[in-house]
Amino acid sequence: MTGSAADPKRTALAGGALPQKSQPAFQIEDLHVWFGNRAVLHGVSLEIPARHVTGIIGPSGCGKSTFLRALNRMHEFTPGVRVQGKVRLFGEDIYEPRVDPILLRRRVGMVFQKSNPFPTMSIQENVLVGLRLAGIRNRGLLEERLEEALRMAALWNEVRDRLHAPGTELSGGQQQRLCIARALAVHPEVLLMDEPCSALDPIATAQIESLIRDLREHYSIVLVTHNLQEAGRTADFTAFFLEGKLIEFESTKKLFTNPSRKQTEDYLTGRFE
Ligand SMILES: Nc1ncnc2c1ncn2[C@@H]1O[C@H](COP(=O)(O)OP(=O)(O)OP(=O)(O)O)[C@@H](O)[C@H]1O
Ligand SMILES: [Mg+2]
Repeated sequence: MTGSAADPKRTALAGGALPQKSQPAFQIEDLHVWFGNRAVLHGVSLEIPARHVTGIIGPSGCGKSTFLRALNRMHEFTPGVRVQGKVRLFGEDIYEPRVDPILLRRRVGMVFQKSNPFPTMSIQENVLVGLRLAGIRNRGLLEERLEEALRMAALWNEVRDRLHAPGTELSGGQQQRLCIARALAVHPEVLLMDEPCSALDPIATAQIESLIRDLREHYSIVLVTHNLQEAGRTADFTAFFLEGKLIEFESTKKLFTNPSRKQTEDYLTGRFE
């Protein structure tokens, strides 16, 4: 974490134990997803390490977003979807009936491709919405979480004087950092990011990528990206998907410099897509 951005989070987390970096955040076993009769993910098994950035790459339509959404049961919002297989979050099967999907999504935050601040809400309310939904009313705690989340998202200095302005007044890159702050405010354990930089210019992209690298100190991050350079710059491990299958999962360095599978090499060298 750069500069003062780190300090509040370190303090806030001082009482709670972080997972070991050697521990898996997710253990995914034989994951299948169907939309209607159409199989889109065909038995993906993968362990996503805690407190690292895991990149997911692959051609358009190969199932990256489908895979990501299965990790916090987002598919439950889409009619006609069937998910089969096991997804364990720090050992706990997230598809067990006793798991409350709302609590699960508090543990597994999500940031989307297109920044989506709530248009009628101020910057402050956008950050606090998850805590308010969780029934937190304590003003001191809300103020603390507001500043902490905005600092973590490297946005505090740019918005501290206009917390009551509409979230939609911010630039594209600032809006995306606001969405990251919104996800962080509830203290998730994992952050799922689906092409968070694809709508941003190179400067805003560099800011978000640097933020992602800093956040991995505390969070387990899964980053879907189309951009191979972005995966190379940001991800510790990278999974390559093709046509709904996991082809290869390796340290980013190994996957990019010495892939084991020909399909990976063909993709990386631009031989298809
Ligand atoms: N809600 C849906 N209903 C039906 N089919 C869907 C739905 N969402 C995705 N699909 C299909 O599932 C497949 C995988 O889509 P997915 O969005 O996971 O791909 P992706 O790898 O994220 O692609 P991109 O890089 O373009 O975002 C595609 O063939 C897509 O058409
Ligand atoms: Mg996608």
